[in-house]
Amino acid sequence: MNLKLKIWRQEGPNDQGRMVDYQANNVSDDMSFLEMLDVLNEELIEKGDDPIAFDHDCREGICGMCSLFINGEAHGPVKGVTTCQLHMRSFKDGETIFIEPWRAKAFPVVKDLAVNRSAFDRIIQAGGYVSVNTSGNTLDANAIAIPKPDADKAFDAATCIGCGACVATCKNASATLFLSAKVSQLALLPQGQVERKERVTKMLHQMDEEGFGACTNTGACFVQCPKGISLENIARLNSEFRNALLS
Ligand code: SF4
Ligand code: FES
Repeated sequence: MNLKLKIWRQEGPNDQGRMVDYQANNVSDDMSFLEMLDVLNEELIEKGDDPIAFDHDCREGICGMCSLFINGEAHGPVKGVTTCQLHMRSFKDGETIFIEPWRAKAFPVVKDLAVNRSAFDRIIQAGGYVSVNTSGNTLDANAIAIPKPDADKAFDAATCIGCGACVATCKNASATLFLSAKVSQLALLPQGQVERKERVTKMLHQMDEEGFGACTNTGACFVQCPKGISLENIARLNSEFRNALLS
């Protein structure tokens, strides 16, 4: 198939940026979206042009690095997949595809389609961990019985890959779905109890510090999340914060 691409090009954080037209010809249905961009970049390099910068790593939906806004949707038109798992068969011959970076104050553009998501790292550093007793008499984690429903909910929350699609698609650029998953995966388990109250307070504070917006319960984050992180986690986050404040 032949496609017309309108791709965001931006030299650096301080450049104004603009949409640039490209033509992608003989694109195979079986190519992934990132492979289609790889081929375009090879053509640009052969012509002596600057290749388009975009983030990627695992290319199998695990690392959370790929981050493209495609035709106005985070990770493109197919639900439950990341950009690297999106295939060109989801598009039609002759179609025009708009490709943009995540847009949020807390995710400044580094170059073209690549944004700086280290704000997420700092939220995790603020409290998204458990302290472990390494004295030598540590109880094996598997020896602690955990109710199956709690284990399942914690596991579901832990599938958040930190891609930032929830932020990119939220009209407030809020990171609440991400934060709620990271708080929930620990709050539901015995290992997460020691720092439970401190964790939610510190992580919420850091989210505000980074310039993410507030949650107004629109739910767009859940719709565009490639891992289907449930809004139930946001309810749990609110209750965790309330309990931390009241204790
Ligand atoms: S909650 Fe979903 S959209 Fe947000 S960072 Fe996690 S996996 Fe990505
Ligand atoms: S490149 Fe790792 S999730 Fe897409």
